[in-house]
Amino acid sequence: MKDQLEKIKKEALDKIDASDALDKLNDIRIAYLGKKGELTQVLKSMKDVAPEDRPKVGQMVNDVRTIIEEKLENTRKELAKKAREEQLKREVIDVTLPAKKNSVGHSHPNTIALNEVEQIFVGMGYEVVEGPEVEYDEYNFEKLNIPANHPAKDEQDTFYITKDIVLRTQTSPVQARVMEQGKLPIRMISPGRVFRSDEVDATHSPSFHQVEGLVIDKHITFADLKGTLAEFAREMFGENTKVKFRPHHFPFTEPSAEMDVTCFKCGGKGCRFCKGSGWIEILGCGMVHPHVLEMCGIDAEEYSGFAFGVGLERIALLKYEIDDMRLLYENDIRFLKQF
Ligand code: DAH
Repeated sequence: MKDQLEKIKKEALDKIDASDALDKLNDIRIAYLGKKGELTQVLKSMKDVAPEDRPKVGQMVNDVRTIIEEKLENTRKELAKKAREEQLKREVIDVTLPAKKNSVGHSHPNTIALNEVEQIFVGMGYEVVEGPEVEYDEYNFEKLNIPANHPAKDEQDTFYITKDIVLRTQTSPVQARVMEQGKLPIRMISPGRVFRSDEVDATHSPSFHQVEGLVIDKHITFADLKGTLAEFAREMFGENTKVKFRPHHFPFTEPSAEMDVTCFKCGGKGCRFCKGSGWIEILGCGMVHPHVLEMCGIDAEEYSGFAFGVGLERIALLKYEIDDMRLLYENDIRFLKQF
């Protein structure tokens, strides 16, 4: 019996020594100490042992059991420690390695310019309003004092969807929509996409962007218009920018003007950029026509206002000295990366 126990002990300990994984230890535990394990079998055969020897044999069996259990436990700890160390080694991060540069996307020059325009006007207390790109002829033309057969309709080559529905050719229809809501005073800008059936070239595209502006209140004069737009030009193009208003015609404003800014490339001396004139045209503007006010339900005796329309691409091209509008739409990453 003693030899048998010694044999079991040696076998078990050898097997434990040879184990290199936790689940193998578990198999050994079952094989020797489990219900049907070898040591348990020995206990079962105690009935064949002489009664006076039983305590001694029992003690021997228990000692072997304890030794195997201890060895199992120690080996388990060692294996677990080794596994942890290996995991740490696998997951180690070499902080001295050069970092991989993540390429972060950024805004399109149009968006950068728009954000700037918005910031300037929001800073002056304007609200940003959006209008539909698919618009009624009525809003795009009629309510802006451009009746059927008006020559201005031909100037803005229009995409017609039906006889009454167009892709808006300008952001000005948002003026009519806001005025009609009847909440006065109004101080708003409305950026958005507009459409004209133009051929693509360096300065034209069938789809581009405008920012419309509208102010309606009591006692608004042309001086307010000039002051506001001059301030806008200074904030957009630099403190030393001067502005000049040239008389112009728009059906929805009276009087109307175009505003030029001093060329920020040559400071007004005249260069290739401003075609020698020292000035660059950036927007159309004027005092809202009383007829437009009345058509939109505003009492023109009591209220007056001014409006303006800026070509967003024009601003972006000028600001970043880009000489071909097509670059803004081609989405060539080599171009876009520069902003
Ligand atoms: N809608 C005009 C255009 O597309 C620009 C414009 C001019 C807008 C004068 C205005 C304005 O609000 O008052 O050419």
